[in-house]
Amino acid sequence: MAEKKTSALILAAGKGVRMKSDLPKVLHKVCGAPMLQYVLEAASGAGLEPIRVVIGYASARVREYFAGLKADWVEQTQQLGTGHAVMVAAPLYKGFKGDVVILYGDVPLLTAATLAALLETHRRAKAVCTVLTAKVDDPTGYGRIVRGKGGALKAIVEHRDATRAQLKIKEINSGIMAFDGPTLFETIRQLKRDNSQGEYYLTDAVGILSGKHRKVAAFLIDDPREIIGINSRAQLAEVCRIMRMEIMARLMEEGVTIVDPENTYIERGAQIGRDTVILPYTVIGAGVKVGQGCEVGPFTHLRLGTVMEDGSEVGNFTEVKKGRIGKRTKAKHLSYLGDVDIGEDVNIGAGTIVANYDGKRKYQTIIADKAFVGSGSVLVAPVRIGKGAVTGAGAVVTRGHDVPDGAVVVGVPAKPLKKKKQG
Ligand code: UD1
Ligand code: CA
Repeated sequence: MAEKKTSALILAAGKGVRMKSDLPKVLHKVCGAPMLQYVLEAASGAGLEPIRVVIGYASARVREYFAGLKADWVEQTQQLGTGHAVMVAAPLYKGFKGDVVILYGDVPLLTAATLAALLETHRRAKAVCTVLTAKVDDPTGYGRIVRGKGGALKAIVEHRDATRAQLKIKEINSGIMAFDGPTLFETIRQLKRDNSQGEYYLTDAVGILSGKHRKVAAFLIDDPREIIGINSRAQLAEVCRIMRMEIMARLMEEGVTIVDPENTYIERGAQIGRDTVILPYTVIGAGVKVGQGCEVGPFTHLRLGTVMEDGSEVGNFTEVKKGRIGKRTKAKHLSYLGDVDIGEDVNIGAGTIVANYDGKRKYQTIIADKAFVGSGSVLVAPVRIGKGAVTGAGAVVTRGHDVPDGAVVVGVPAKPLKKKKQG
């Protein structure tokens, strides 16, 4: 018998009213990537297939962001609730016999490992529905898990529909649930809109199934932080903080010194080598690469596409964008280095500015090995500073006026320094 597939159905159609934003909620970024991306990665990491995403509010923007992604997009033009989102996807599951894992696009800390554990419980319990739950100190806003005699899962009651007694329940619905596919699609047809929001709640499926004495299970997660749902900007900041701390904990484990993690911002996918020291108030963007034995900060911003090679140092109030900083090169004070390719053993003097943008386009600047860029130099791109060349303090090297290898240029605009005649 062919193995049944387990599909992921990600609900991501909501506007995210509580975000008070024009951007669809799932495109808001957490440590450098939109929250939906993390959910997609957890689903594919757990081997779920096919992955289907229900989108609605500003769906064109979501599709555009994830263009080229291997997922089926389902349009929910009117967002009538999480149960309705599943109804809209139902036609795609015609004849589908496997399990369906429901994921919410606003729960980005969820891991593939937790999904695998949820599915294991689901299968071991031979349940038609298994809900991922968590115990939290502050359950405000979440659906509450109502258990009956003997602790069996009876129903999920939304915060806005809960009685006073139910509001005291600390066990909450993460929103993540594993369902037997055919049972799911049959049950959601029975959902009603008789609640405070007039929506079709997917969570009501749990009560319907348990009322019919079908096997409904719960999987209580150890670390409740993993299932935090982002509804507000405050929750967005909280999740960013948790993820940031995780990113840095991993880097420290790999041998990176981070002097003050509370005041350091490193996005996902940044690679940093051993014995590199990150000083406070440093921001390192997604995908930046820093080699071994480097020093970064304090107050340094490394942006997209930046590579710092081994032993290089970028410090106080220096910003690098799409720049290669060669081995042992130093740019320690007050510089902007955009679209640069800087070789080895270069000294970038304090206050050096690379003018990479002429108001219309951006251009590249090349600074070859062992060059010495004097303090306060302005390099107007595109331009090349030759090997071992020197620019004097305050020199303005104008566009296209490349400085030959070994030359010394000074002044505004920079000109070769005339050697005094001997004798
Ligand atoms: C939901 C759950 C709640 C749970 C919480 C966990 C329901 C009714 N409630 O509440 O029990 O504790 O998540 O975070 O399910 N969405 C759609 N289409 C819609 C409505 C929502 O795709 O018509 C998507 C949203 O984009 C979002 C997800 O479903 O990604 C959850 O919706 P949201 O409105 O945030 O639900 P909560 O109120 O947080
Ligand atoms: Ca939510």
